[in-house]
Amino acid sequence: MSDEVRYEREGNVAVITLNNPPVNALGHAVRVGLVDALEKADADDDVKAVIIIGTGRGFSGGADIREFGKPRPEPLLVEVIAHIEVTAKPVVAAIHGMAVGGGCELPLGCHYRVGDETAQMGLPEVKLGLIPGAGGTQRLPRLIGLKPALDMIVSGEYVGAERAAELGLLDELIDGDLKTGAIRFAEKLIANGTEPRRIRDMQPDDTDAKELFEKARATAARRMRGLDAPQRCIDSIENSTTLPIDDALQKEREFFAELESSEQSRALRHLFFAEREAHRIPGVPKDTPLRPIARAAVIGCGTMGRGIAMSLANGGVPVTVIEVDQKALDAGLEMARKTYAGSVSRGSLSQGDMDARMTLIGGTTSYDDIADADIVIEAVFEDMELKKKIFTTLDSTCKQGTILATNTSSLDVNEIAAATKRPGDVIGTHFFSPANVMKLMENVRGAKTAPDVIATVMKLSKDINKVGVMVGVCNGFVGNRMLYAYKTQAEYLLEEGALPHQVDKVVTDFGFPMGPFAVSDLAGLDVGYLVRKHRREIDPPKHRESYIGDRIVEMGRHGQKTSKGWFLYEEGNRVPQPDPEIEDLIVGISEELGIERREITDQEILERCLYPLINEGAKILAEGIAIRPSDIDVIWIYGYGFPRGRGGPMFYADQVGAKTIFDVMQRLYEVHGDLLKPAPLLKELANAGKSFADCQAEKKIN
Ligand code: 3HC
Ligand code: NAI
Repeated sequence: MSDEVRYEREGNVAVITLNNPPVNALGHAVRVGLVDALEKADADDDVKAVIIIGTGRGFSGGADIREFGKPRPEPLLVEVIAHIEVTAKPVVAAIHGMAVGGGCELPLGCHYRVGDETAQMGLPEVKLGLIPGAGGTQRLPRLIGLKPALDMIVSGEYVGAERAAELGLLDELIDGDLKTGAIRFAEKLIANGTEPRRIRDMQPDDTDAKELFEKARATAARRMRGLDAPQRCIDSIENSTTLPIDDALQKEREFFAELESSEQSRALRHLFFAEREAHRIPGVPKDTPLRPIARAAVIGCGTMGRGIAMSLANGGVPVTVIEVDQKALDAGLEMARKTYAGSVSRGSLSQGDMDARMTLIGGTTSYDDIADADIVIEAVFEDMELKKKIFTTLDSTCKQGTILATNTSSLDVNEIAAATKRPGDVIGTHFFSPANVMKLMENVRGAKTAPDVIATVMKLSKDINKVGVMVGVCNGFVGNRMLYAYKTQAEYLLEEGALPHQVDKVVTDFGFPMGPFAVSDLAGLDVGYLVRKHRREIDPPKHRESYIGDRIVEMGRHGQKTSKGWFLYEEGNRVPQPDPEIEDLIVGISEELGIERREITDQEILERCLYPLINEGAKILAEGIAIRPSDIDVIWIYGYGFPRGRGGPMFYADQVGAKTIFDVMQRLYEVHGDLLKPAPLLKELANAGKSFADCQAEKKIN
């Protein structure tokens, strides 16, 4: 028997244990071990029932994703599950922790399922651009019904133990030790002479199936625009109502194979590993001791501060918020309450959970009340002098060891750290707006930030259900610096002949949820205007900036909030409408600049928006501001709405090819000058016929 699968006997019950840390992925050795163990149990006349259980943090995290995209050695998971299903002795899956993907399909091939309170079950394959490929789309609807199966498979979301029991996904909830409880369950089956119950023999209830599938297709098209896997999940589940099970299982395998080789699934698998890779940080070994985070504080209860406080509370961390005075504090906390209440009224949060979270958020106007906080996150106005003053105060009031974090979106974290006598404790935690919703935390490592501070903040990101990426200090860090390159070109394109709706359409057709101009209207144009004015005073840009955006603000058009910005907005409608007034303004500005407007193709728009962004990414990598290309991908997916199915800008760059991008950048540089000069790293990759992935693999970029 292999190490990955253990076999033992407890009386008349064979206990097969999955033992493949860290998540009992169902790789080749596990599949072989399972078949061997099943044969052993089958051959032993004293074995009357079988239990399959897992060691470690959960039952199983599913198929081994590292095996995807390559030929898989037999036995395949479908074959192992078919073997379990036909076994003549009752087989019981005993589930703790995660039983997901193939790790949920395997229990569905068992005859019974029991779990303890930690059990979480689901089929998240859709998040990897796949469908469940080992019978999930056929067995789950048969067991729990079409509607709940559709919900689980198309969303990829998990259900906890209680819900699993309600749905009939678990036959029994075990109190106390899982293995003991599962053996007791199996012994009862033996004592009662209960036969194996095979899900394949059940019939799915197909009442109202047609409407259900139609609705599911429309919802998936809206919510998961441009992604193929959700539609294929629905097709395959529909087969459970129209085809004999073996034909439907065959179809499921065909859909799976088709998706497995698709660019979307490769992109989504890349992101799965990228998110985890981001936690490997040079100079911060995995065993770096963490600082305990039992209580937090946030300075400023404005847009970001209250979102950050809510994120902490959502993750169960008690937090105290400081404002300038009681009135501002009350107003900020009231806004947080209203945001939660909105979720309650939409049904996405229970009243009980809202109350529990609000209880975790306290307020004060005195720094003495936060002296014991383990982490303080500052989110006051973007003003260096103000931030320095606050960090000096924190330095003199907070206990030794408090992590002092700033949510600055552009200021120098090193300069802020230098305002304290403990720069090792200072770090950037750049949340995105709305902070209670957006998943990205672009964490910024200062020159002196201590390794344990870095490790603790990355762990905190995960604990509060965010995706953390560590970057270095530069203007705009990684995300905003690349965004600036993209938005600059979008505005130049207007001067040269394009119009806002044309640019936005190309970008949304590519897969972004919104184009750059609609995003600006949503965020409010006045804020950026003031920031630009201030920045130009203290640090004049080295190149000409388009002033169309400034003119629009000066016309009193501040975006959606004034129903006019780059676009027009009708009362109660957020859909941007092109506005002839803006088009006249743009044409007039081209004239002022002496630019002869020309026809601009969609392809040029795409290249002008995306390639300079990628080019900036290449510079950021060469400077060591981002640790690796995949970190940039994670930042753009979770912070800026880059289409997931494209894998992020650097992954996308590899699909286009460094040489193609370099050639376009070189041409643009010759026409438009320095701002579009190809990055040396891009040139190097193009000349060597290499990709950003090669770069990452060679550990050239750490
Ligand atoms: N295959 C290969 N490696 C996996 C894996 C998998 N299914 N699941 C997790 N890992 C690896 C991670 O890459 C990570 O490796 P690292 O330490 O070297 O970075 C390590 O296991 C630990 O993973 P996490 O940090 O994510 O651990 P958590 O405890 O936070 O989460 C989990 C556990 C919920 C299981 C999470 O890892 C997860 O979501 N895994 C993927 C689940 C999934 O999508 N399964 C479906 C696979 S497709 C499938 O089953 C096809 C079938 O239908 C035929
Ligand atoms: P905001 O103007 O909405 O909120 C700032 C809050 O800080 C106000 O409520 C103000 O009363 C409070 N404040 C000011 N001085 C204070 C002091 N001395 N003590 C306590 N509270 C004080 O600003 P916003 O948008 O929340 O931005 C905060 C920080 O987050 C800035 O550094 C900004 O650059 C950054 N940021 C903003 C994002 C956004 O989209 N708004 C995104 C990411 C970062």
